Amino acid sequence: LAESGENLWLRYDKVSDNVFDDYSVLETLYVEGNSPVIGVARNELINAIKGMTSVDLDLSKKVSGSSILLGVGLNEKIDVQGLEEGLESCGPEGYVIRRVGKDKETQVVITANTDAGVLYGTFAFIRMMQNEEDISAINVVETPKYELRLLNHWDNLDGTVERGYAGHSIWWNREKDFNDLRDHYQIYARANASVGINGTVLNNVNAAPEVLTDEYLEQVVRIADLLRPYNIKVYLSVNFSSPAVIGGLEDSDPLRDEVREWWKDKVEEIYEEIPDFGGFLVKANSEGQPGPQDYGRTHADGANMLAEALEPYDGIVMWRAFVYAPSGDDRAKQAYTEFVPLDGKFHENVIVQVKNGPIDFQPREPFSPVFGAMDETSLMIEFQITQEYLGFSNHLAYLATMQKETFESDTYAKGPGSTVAKATDGSLFSQKHTAIAGVANIGRDVNWTGHHFAQANWYAYGRLAWDHTLRADDIGKEWLGMTFSNEDAFVEPSLNIMMRSREAVVNYMTPLGLHHLMGWSHHHGPEPWTEIEGARPDWLPKYYHNASEDGIGFDRSESGSNAVVQYEEPLASIYNNPKTCPENLILWFHHLPWDYTMSSGLSLWDELCYHYYDGVEEVRLMQKKWDRMQGLIDDERFEHVRHKLKIQSREAEWWRDACLLYFQTFSGMPIPAELERPV
Ligand code: GCU
Repeated sequence: LAESGENLWLRYDKVSDNVFDDYSVLETLYVEGNSPVIGVARNELINAIKGMTSVDLDLSKKVSGSSILLGVGLNEKIDVQGLEEGLESCGPEGYVIRRVGKDKETQVVITANTDAGVLYGTFAFIRMMQNEEDISAINVVETPKYELRLLNHWDNLDGTVERGYAGHSIWWNREKDFNDLRDHYQIYARANASVGINGTVLNNVNAAPEVLTDEYLEQVVRIADLLRPYNIKVYLSVNFSSPAVIGGLEDSDPLRDEVREWWKDKVEEIYEEIPDFGGFLVKANSEGQPGPQDYGRTHADGANMLAEALEPYDGIVMWRAFVYAPSGDDRAKQAYTEFVPLDGKFHENVIVQVKNGPIDFQPREPFSPVFGAMDETSLMIEFQITQEYLGFSNHLAYLATMQKETFESDTYAKGPGSTVAKATDGSLFSQKHTAIAGVANIGRDVNWTGHHFAQANWYAYGRLAWDHTLRADDIGKEWLGMTFSNEDAFVEPSLNIMMRSREAVVNYMTPLGLHHLMGWSHHHGPEPWTEIEGARPDWLPKYYHNASEDGIGFDRSESGSNAVVQYEEPLASIYNNPKTCPENLILWFHHLPWDYTMSSGLSLWDELCYHYYDGVEEVRLMQKKWDRMQGLIDDERFEHVRHKLKIQSREAEWWRDACLLYFQTFSGMPIPAELERPV
C-alpha cells in the first residue's frame, strides 16, 4: 500500500495561459490572522496558485496594492462597498469573495465572519481558478444550507469497513502508525474542507462498545487534533449497551441514574481530551442493535439521556430512524410509525437522522415519509455515498442526480413546494439544528474510492451538503475539470456518461420501482429468487417483489399495506392509484398483473423487459463514449475506468438476464427481441 492516496480533485494542474493572464495581477498575498485554520487556507492558496500558474505568491504586510487579501476582519481595514452586508448575511461558515479596484490596485478579497468561513472561501476561489472561470468581476456571497455537514464512516475497529469497497479503514489501521498516515489524512482533510464538510463520524453505526475505551479514544484524540485546522469535528457512533458491556453496569436502561451518570462521566472524559468533540451517532433497536426499547423505553428516552450528557459541551446526538423489525406487514412503514408519535419529545440537541428513502438506499426509492412529518424535531437526511446497492465500486453511478431527486421531492407538508430540502434545511420548520450525513465510500485504496468516478460521489455529496440547489451537471463538470481535464472534448462526453449513469443502474437492476432484488447479505448481484430457510422474510428479495402468476410488485396502496397514507395529500392519493403513481415507482406501490397496460401502451411485462434492455444498452454506450476519451487523459486512469466499465457491462447483462428469466417463470410471457421496442 502506498503511504498516501492520490490528490483527488486537488491536483492543481496548470490552467490555460489565457486564464493565467487574467490572474497574473495577483502575485501578492496579504493574510490577516495566524490561527491554524488560516494557516491551512494560506498554504493551500500558495500551493494551488503555484501549481496552476507557476506563480510564487509573495507574502505582503500591507493591505494596499494589487494582491489577494485573506482573513477575518478585513472590512475594518479596507473600505469596500457591500462587504459589510455580505458578512452580515453569510453566517458563521459562509464567506464573501470580491474583486475590487483596478490595474495596479486590483485586489481579490476573501473574507468571512470566522476562520472556517475564510477556509471555505479560499477553496471556493481555488475551485473557480481550477475551472478556469472568469474572475474579473467576482462577487460572491455564500452561506451553507446545512449547519452540520457530515461523513459517516462505517469503519470497524478491526480495520474492515462495512459496505466498503475501497480497501481497509483509513482510521482503524493496525499495520500503520498514525504518523505514517499523516499525509494521507491531510489529503482527506483538505478534500473535505474543499467542499465544506465539517464533521466526520469515525466508526460504524453498528458500533463496537470498545470505541469508548482508552485504547481507541487515544486514536480519536489524534484524529481530532489532525482534523481541527480543517474545521472538521469528530463524532463517534456509540453502542447503546456500552454502560453494561464496557462499564460493567448491570444494564443500560436509560432511565436509571447509574446509567445516566456513566454516560455523563464518559462524555466528560472525552471532552477533556477533545474540547470540540462533535457528539454521538446512534443506531438503536435496529437490525439487532441494542436500544432503549430493550428496557421498555422509547427512542426519545434513549436519545435524551445522551443529549443531557452532551448538552453542557454543545454536543449533538444524531439518532437514526433506520429501524425495522421482522414483524409487521411492511418494513417501509416502520420509521414513520415509530418516530412520528415522538415528535416534540426530543431534546434540542438531538437530531433524528433519516435515510433518504423508507427502505434502504435502493437505486430508486420514494423519499421517506418522515420528512415533513415531524415539525417539532430537528430532522436530517442520510444519503449513502458508498454504492452498497449500486454495483459497489465496480459500477459507474453518479449519485448527485439521485440526491437531487430526493431534495426536490415535494412532501406537501406545508402545501406545494415543501420539498425534502426545505423540510430539512430549516426554511420550512424552525429546526434548532440542521444537518446532513453521507455514508462514506472511502478506504485505503490509492484512488480512495475504488472507482475513479466514485470520487465524484464524495465530491458531489459535499457540494450538495453545502448547497442543495446546485445542479448535478454543474457539480459533475466542476469535478471532471478539477480531477481530469477542462477540455470540452473530454468534459462533455464524460459528463454525459455521469448524468445518465444512475438511471442506467436503475434500469438494469430494479426498474419501475422494484427494489431489493440483490443477493441476500452481500447485496451485489441479482438474486430475486432467494429463499433461505430460517432467514427473516423481510431480508429476502421475494418479500419485496412478490412475483407470482398474478403479477409483480409490493402493494402499498390502501388495498395492501397502506403505506401511502404516510404521505401528505395529494401525494397519498397520487401514489395510491396506479394510473397516477409515477411509473418509475409503480411497483414500489402496486402489485400489478403482467398484462397491465402502461402509459406507453405496452404491457407491464414488455415494459419491464425494455427497461432491462435499456439499462444494458446504456452501459454499452458508456463504454463507447469512454473509449473515445483515450489520449485526452492519462493512460492509467483511462484504462482503469475502461476496465471497470467492462465489468459493469457484463454485470448489467447478468442482472438483466437473471431477473427477466426468473420473472418469466411467473409471467409465462415471451421476452421481446432486444431491438423491437416500438417507438
Ligand atoms: C443496511 C446495510 C447494513 C447497515 C444498515 C444501516 O442495511 O446493509 O450494513 O448496517 O444499512 O444503515 O444501519
